[in-house]
Amino acid sequence: MSKSLSSPASLLSAPAQNAAAGLALRCSNLHRHLGQGEGRVHVLRGVSFEARRGHVTAIVGPSGCGKSTLLYLLGLLDQPDDGSIWISDQLMSNSSDLDRTAARCEHIGFVFQFHFLMLEFSALDNVMMPMRKLGRLSEAEMVARARSLLADVGLGEKTHRLATQLSGGEQQRVAVARALANQPSIILADEPTGNLDVTNSNLVFDLLTKLAKENGQAVVLVTHNPEIAQRCDEIKPMRDGQFC
Ligand SMILES: Nc1ncnc2c1ncn2[C@@H]1O[C@H](COP(=O)(O)OP(=O)(O)OP(=O)(O)O)[C@@H](O)[C@H]1O
Ligand SMILES: [Mg+2]
Repeated sequence: MSKSLSSPASLLSAPAQNAAAGLALRCSNLHRHLGQGEGRVHVLRGVSFEARRGHVTAIVGPSGCGKSTLLYLLGLLDQPDDGSIWISDQLMSNSSDLDRTAARCEHIGFVFQFHFLMLEFSALDNVMMPMRKLGRLSEAEMVARARSLLADVGLGEKTHRLATQLSGGEQQRVAVARALANQPSIILADEPTGNLDVTNSNLVFDLLTKLAKENGQAVVLVTHNPEIAQRCDEIKPMRDGQFC
């Protein structure tokens, strides 16, 4: 009896498959429990996912289904109890804290659901923070880039305002600019338009889409907004800690 031939992709290692498929990020069979004792919850129940360069993916699902928990794992901000995560061609789920921090700084821009700006700092300083951490640009270059990103999110006039002097929606837009600071290959955004009116939702969404299309960045966003989800390249519905 003749044996079926393996496809070329199946002969490649996982990293080589990622590169061949234009994958910026891949995860396989992620599990995550949260809480202690009787309050311990099996939040993620075997999630596998791929984020492609140049693609915008929407993760949608009811409150509490595990969207933020998943994004935290993909952003290397938390570790899975089981499963694997590759950033580009590097297996990161078993890496040291130091390596994970370095990979996050270089490759990942994260927009938090509750933006977490440094409130005592200006919009400009907040956007410059990831650039200072990476340490690749001069002070003047960092200032110019931060100004340009703040202009892109419609805050060109408010660069020197303290975060406390900005509205919730303006703070959210600073958080988007901050996530883009180091030109990450992966942008993970948890409800990036959640606090925004229609005009600014469109501005932020159009900016993220432009980055994906023009720079080949992979954008993964969580949204409860069906209109935004419909405009993404792919919609991944989630329920009870799994993709449907
Ligand atoms: N520290 C914790 N201990 C126990 N359970 C937790 C903990 N943190 C989160 N959870 C639970 O994990 C589940 C997933 O939470 P998560 O924040 O990922 O949901 P989500 O899909 O992002 O929801 P939303 O749309 O409201 O932001 C929820 O049921 C939540 O109650
Ligand atoms: Mg959430």
